[in-house]
Amino acid sequence: MHEREGMRNFYKDKVVVVTGSSSGIGREIVEQLANYGAKIVLCARNQEAMQEHVRRMNLADENYLILALDFSQAIDFNAVREKILSKFNHIDILINNAGIAQKSLVQETNEEVERRIMEVNYFANINFTKALLPHFIDRKKGQIVGISSILGEIGLPFVGPYCASKHALNGYYNSMRYDLEKLGVEVAIVSPGFIKTEITKKSLTGSGEIHDKDSVAQEKGMSAKDCAQGILKNISKKKRQSYVGGLETLMPKFAFLFPRLFHFLMRKLHKI
Ligand SMILES: NC(=O)c1ccc[n+]([C@@H]2O[C@H](COP(=O)([O-])OP(=O)(O)OC[C@H]3O[C@@H](n4cnc5c(N)ncnc54)[C@H](OP(=O)(O)O)[C@@H]3O)[C@@H](O)[C@H]2O)c1
Repeated sequence: MHEREGMRNFYKDKVVVVTGSSSGIGREIVEQLANYGAKIVLCARNQEAMQEHVRRMNLADENYLILALDFSQAIDFNAVREKILSKFNHIDILINNAGIAQKSLVQETNEEVERRIMEVNYFANINFTKALLPHFIDRKKGQIVGISSILGEIGLPFVGPYCASKHALNGYYNSMRYDLEKLGVEVAIVSPGFIKTEITKKSLTGSGEIHDKDSVAQEKGMSAKDCAQGILKNISKKKRQSYVGGLETLMPKFAFLFPRLFHFLMRKLHKI
């Protein structure tokens, strides 16, 4: 079967919740899901960007729901679940994609920034997941997908809290998979490499300002469109752990096999 047709068969009429859907990878995931005929729940802070996107795609009202949510704040995710169910009656897939990055030496990073990264990247992610679990368990099916990062398996200079949040996710998801598999709920992690989005530009500095500089690695990285395609393909193939990106996705294996050499090379590369 042609790949596109296979993807369409998999996603058509499925209710898919996509967090972080106002820009970058999440926005592209939404675009492709719409082409496959899925019903989409878009979540992020920037409501205008999401509205403009569904308008541009000509999505019919019955095929989408926009939820303006700020994951750095306390959210009643049970109420969010009920809102989704009152529109679509059920949920098939949760793609936990929302995330923020940080760019600073740990010795120059204040606690507020550390906590904000964990709130958005880790706590909101698992709290949303847990609120959907009773529904998935009742239906004896559901897919939970965490968009992690290759930085969920290695450390690099200037990104300590971000790496920590992704390591935490990986640990939680790899554990949660055991807890849920007998109940029919599937858990997957997709780890992108360096993807061309504005995440680094929007990174927080150690004092909570906007970093406002792109990363060279990301500028040369895979497009968000190709990344979204890879993510959706891996979800449809029910891959439990996968990578999307270029050669940099080999970094975790390289670091595991040659830790000293990896450390030396990363120091050279980052000129520290
Ligand atoms: N780009 C890469 O190289 C790369 C590599 C590995 C992993 N990833 C992961 O991929 C995911 C998507 O990142 P991206 O590169 O596409 O970056 P992006 O373009 O900056 O998108 C991040 C998304 O998260 C949302 N978000 C940020 N703060 C939020 C908050 N407080 N509440 C709710 N939503 C919030 C943003 O929406 P609002 O601002 O509208 O709230 C936006 O839609 C992230 O989890 C990131 O860690 C990216």
